Amino acid sequence: MKVLIAYSSRTGNTKKLAQAIHLALPNADLCPMGSVPNPSKYDLVFAGFWVEAGNACSDARKCLKRLGGLPVALFATLGAYPDSQHAADSLKAAANEIPDGKVVDTFICQGAIDPNMIEWMEQLPQEADNAPTESRRKLWDDGASHPDENDLEAVADWALSVLEKQSASA
Ligand SMILES: Cc1cc2nc3c(=O)[nH]c(=O)nc-3n(C[C@H](O)[C@H](O)[C@H](O)COP(=O)(O)O)c2cc1C
Repeated sequence: MKVLIAYSSRTGNTKKLAQAIHLALPNADLCPMGSVPNPSKYDLVFAGFWVEAGNACSDARKCLKRLGGLPVALFATLGAYPDSQHAADSLKAAANEIPDGKVVDTFICQGAIDPNMIEWMEQLPQEADNAPTESRRKLWDDGASHPDENDLEAVADWALSVLEKQSASA
């Protein structure tokens, strides 16, 4: 089974997940989404993105549009909690970018927010959408160490189970 791991990552969080998947599946091809070759030669694509404004980031959206008809396993990092409605909605929005999408499974975990962005949000007036609040600061603090070793182990286990399921159904 020919497997591609394609990812988009601005500050390195999602790249860490992609590399952990690659360690678990060393025969897979690993490449940034901006330089994905012809995806149709693959039997399974792991497509990784960071969440931007409740969807996949923009270069991931472009890549997802090229994955129509292929079995795709989505993985992602985001600033919000992975068990939040926002996380579920973001995965759904990303899945909807794939024409005739066949999303076989998903994985999402927290990823540290760029400290420059936190600094910028700290300056926002109280009435602004992303203004700092006690709960938001807790979220940023909780995210600062992610993806951590547990996340990397979990994404590797997940990738192995996805491959096993896909191989069994091929
Ligand atoms: C411009 C921008 C928009 C973002 N939008 C969201 C968002 O809508 N929801 C969210 O949970 N996190 C959001 N984040 C946080 C990132 O998804 C998160 O930090 C991610 O782990 C970054 O991954 P990377 O290091 O692979 O680039 C945003 C970050 C940036 C810079």
